[in-house]
Amino acid sequence: MSHEVVEKNIGLMVVLIILVISVAGLVQIVPLFFLTSTTEPIEGMEPYTALQLEGRDIYIREGCNTCHSQQIRPFRAETERYGHYSVAGEFVWDYPFLWGSKRTGPDLARVGGRYSDDWHRLHLTDPRAVVPESNMPAYAFLENRVINTDVTPRKMRAMQRLGVPYTDEQIANAQEEVEDRTEMDALIAYLQGMGTALAHWR
Ligand code: HEC
Repeated sequence: MSHEVVEKNIGLMVVLIILVISVAGLVQIVPLFFLTSTTEPIEGMEPYTALQLEGRDIYIREGCNTCHSQQIRPFRAETERYGHYSVAGEFVWDYPFLWGSKRTGPDLARVGGRYSDDWHRLHLTDPRAVVPESNMPAYAFLENRVINTDVTPRKMRAMQRLGVPYTDEQIANAQEEVEDRTEMDALIAYLQGMGTALAHWR
């Protein structure tokens, strides 16, 4: 009988549906804010250096994340190819996250240290020189552009406000660290750090 009442009264049905979905959502989502495995950085992780942070911004600007994910799922086919699956603690200082879901190219979550800096420089300048069948665009122009150091400390300060544990000293030295470095240097520094914090994966 009472079911019939709900079925014949669409307003009441809408309210009840919203109630059910909200409770289900709360039960699933709220605990994640309190679990240390999803909110704490993994042991020994360091925030991005000033150069890496600039490299990450270039990665975003150039849309590398539209072809490359940064998230290894816990399946054998993925871990055999890319390395240890990604864990939440690796990303707690990433604003914004760059997990992605599109893989035109390979996942890059653990590309750090897999190739030399020279390999990356050549690959980014002319992908077909090292991987003949590659359809990745060339980014040779990054070599001719220097980082705008004026904004680096402000970017770090913003990250600090979001909870990234930069010291005031690191922020004070930031400008010097990226002085005269090219966008190519910064991007490679970022790539080489990727996924290396999880100590036990190699
Ligand atoms: C149109 C899609 C596309 C875009 C955009 C793109 N890539 Fe790629 N990338 C690929 C493909 C396909 C491959 C595999 C072939 C190769 O190695 O070149 C690849 C390979 C790579 C590799 C080697 C990965 C490995 O494990 O062998 C790196 C590193 C890389 N890309 C970095 C970047 C960076 C950094 C950018 C942005 C500046 C970028 N890619 C933009 C498609 C793309």
